[in-house]
Amino acid sequence: MPRILVTGASGNIGRLTLQHLLKRVPASDLVGLVRDPAKATDLAAAGIEIRQGDYFDYDGLVRAFEGIAKVMLVSATAFTDRNTQHQNVISAARQAGVKHIVYMPIIREAESAFTLPDITEQDRFVEEQLKASGLTYTLVRHPPFLESVAFYIGGNALETGVHAPAGAGKAGYASRDELAEAHAVVLSQAGHEGKTYSLYGDPAVSFADVAQILSDISGKPVPFVASSDQDYIAHLVAAGLPESAAGFALAWVQGVNAGAWDGKTGDLEHLLGRKPTTAAEFLRATYAARQA
Ligand SMILES: NC(=O)c1ccc[n+]([C@@H]2O[C@H](COP(=O)([O-])OP(=O)(O)OC[C@H]3O[C@@H](n4cnc5c(N)ncnc54)[C@H](OP(=O)(O)O)[C@@H]3O)[C@@H](O)[C@H]2O)c1
Repeated sequence: MPRILVTGASGNIGRLTLQHLLKRVPASDLVGLVRDPAKATDLAAAGIEIRQGDYFDYDGLVRAFEGIAKVMLVSATAFTDRNTQHQNVISAARQAGVKHIVYMPIIREAESAFTLPDITEQDRFVEEQLKASGLTYTLVRHPPFLESVAFYIGGNALETGVHAPAGAGKAGYASRDELAEAHAVVLSQAGHEGKTYSLYGDPAVSFADVAQILSDISGKPVPFVASSDQDYIAHLVAAGLPESAAGFALAWVQGVNAGAWDGKTGDLEHLLGRKPTTAAEFLRATYAARQA
């Protein structure tokens, strides 16, 4: 079996991808790339080889990719010179003899004019680099995470209402865990080479829908508080977010309101072999855990 390396193994998506891969392939076929091996002792204990590497250290990446057939490139953090990091990974993989790269851009529909700062252009750059590299690749495009909804609407939405700029756009959010499971399917099966998947959850929901879901969960009305962009940022800052993070949340919320992720492909359901968790199911579990 070809060896599969997952980057960002100390983070959410990378770790979850490896955990799902463990259910499908022997641990001896798996490698996790981390900056700090102390953050991946759980994966090492499960029999996964942990290699040290930094997206900024090209030579280290070439060494880390030795003997690897497939690389899952977990996208680099926004506002950290993502182009240099992604280009290093792609070039080092090519130099080390890797055959296949799986990358997770954010979904962007061809007809949408919406762009996310430090995301959309950098994702396009990766796709150009992959095309030019001659490597086999698969794009597993992500919608916004279901985990991000609580961040978008402010810390204590059950008490304060769902705050978001006015708009009725919907998004097909998906959970990190199910996106990672879809990665594991793509990485462990043949037949996904050269494919592009858009991993929408279903059904798509608006912020008014989220308010209705939270009302159903709590048994009392949770209003949708449509605000100006300025008031939205002020609300998130008052809830404890740094202003830069609040500004980034605003960009995502504007994308939701513009309908940038209101699509339906069935790709996630197809890869999982079941219907993905709905926003209502996910939020019920999240807020029930918070209330407990
Ligand atoms: N779809 C969405 O809604 C959404 C939302 C937020 C983010 N994202 C994207 O999804 C990615 C993964 O999300 P996540 O929740 O798994 O993030 P996360 O938990 O922050 O994990 C990021 C991983 O990348 C690693 N990393 C960061 N810089 C690196 C570098 N220079 N070299 C090597 N590894 C590096 C981190 O290592 P350390 O543990 O050493 O820091 C960590 O393992 C994010 O990076 C971002 O691009 C998507």
